[in-house]
Amino acid sequence: MLDINKIRNDFPILSRKINGKPLIYFDNAATTQKPISVINSLTDFYTTYNSNVHRGVHTLSMQSTDLFEEARNRVAKFINSQRSESIIWTRNTTEGINLVANAWGKKNITPGDEIVVTAMEHHSNLVPWQILAETNKAKLVIIPINDDGTLNLNNIDTIINSKTKIVSVVHMSNSLGTINPIHELCEKAHKVGAKFLLDGAQSAPHMPINVKDYDCDFLVFSGHKMLGPTGIGVLYVKPDILENMEPFLTGGEMVLEVSYEKASWNELPMKFEAGTPNIADAIALGEAIIYLEKIGMEQIREHEIELTNYALNKFEKLNNLTLFGPLDSSIRGGIFSFHSEYIHPHDLGTFLDNEGIAIRTGHHCTMPLIRSLNIPATSRASFYIYNTKDEIDYFIQSLQNAIKYFTHDK
Ligand SMILES: Cc1ncc(COP(=O)(O)O)c(C=O)c1O
Repeated sequence: MLDINKIRNDFPILSRKINGKPLIYFDNAATTQKPISVINSLTDFYTTYNSNVHRGVHTLSMQSTDLFEEARNRVAKFINSQRSESIIWTRNTTEGINLVANAWGKKNITPGDEIVVTAMEHHSNLVPWQILAETNKAKLVIIPINDDGTLNLNNIDTIINSKTKIVSVVHMSNSLGTINPIHELCEKAHKVGAKFLLDGAQSAPHMPINVKDYDCDFLVFSGHKMLGPTGIGVLYVKPDILENMEPFLTGGEMVLEVSYEKASWNELPMKFEAGTPNIADAIALGEAIIYLEKIGMEQIREHEIELTNYALNKFEKLNNLTLFGPLDSSIRGGIFSFHSEYIHPHDLGTFLDNEGIAIRTGHHCTMPLIRSLNIPATSRASFYIYNTKDEIDYFIQSLQNAIKYFTHDK
């Protein structure tokens, strides 16, 4: 059991009032709040050792280089990567996928090849593959979903076939909460000689991640969804693949020798980190990981299962409302997307904001998925380590009030 009160005290923003009510922050799938240790890490960088990394021999530069590389090592351990050279700093999940699509995809995808994604991908894991498929004359193939929001794997052996070169799948859907069977999909990809990319934007913050166990070739996630700052993300690549990948961005930092005519590339991982990196935010992400590991990723997942079961139970009793995604917490994260034909999600978002509750409304960057549900948008509540059952109670009560208010003359 997590000591939620102790955890909440570490997050200054949670004592804020919104419209005179205590803030209930249920927009964690969009971005999470930051503990004081992460905020202090940023202040500490800029007040005591701000300097560029790798190139300096002075004290400040050596200190920032040490802490920057220590954060990389911490990320490697967090996802059980054998080598820290496999960890490339990016801005976010989106940049990580674009890096793979450009640096690996442009060279390895040839006309007639197939790229497989699922029907529940975030635009970040769809648009880069659409563009790659178009430029390299490949085909984009979509794994469909069932009515309960799980993947429909009935024809998976036809979908993932000898033409498939990469399978790129979201671990936990940001719109449905579904946790996908990635062991099975990764195994199927490897059986036909394809690579496997895991979009861990929603899973890395909420459960233990183990790249060795999954055997994925690429993993991407964002620091800001796991208590870290915005502007810093992670791309993990299996060492043998990384050795053979060409750089994505070029310029300073990523070169070894440069003449007026040509250049050679720096060692890994610098080869993929052109220009001055986001030093302060990388170090602060390391601090966020220290915080998460102190609580324990298994415990974090357990807390989320508990909140998910609690919320599922409450949602079951609500009328005039459709909840999307699987009803089984073993294959679902704490993400609740729902729709009522009587309330436009934006109206509901405003109604709940009046009660101090922050939820997200819209298509959640999964426009094709939301369109396939035949609705304009959903309302989405998403939980994290500092959320409580009491907050869920207040949210459900407010939701009931909203339904009553908007359906009074129906
Ligand atoms: C599943 C999933 N993939 C990718 C992204 C993109 O993350 P970012 O905006 O941090 O690049 C998100 C963000 O919501 C997401 O939920």
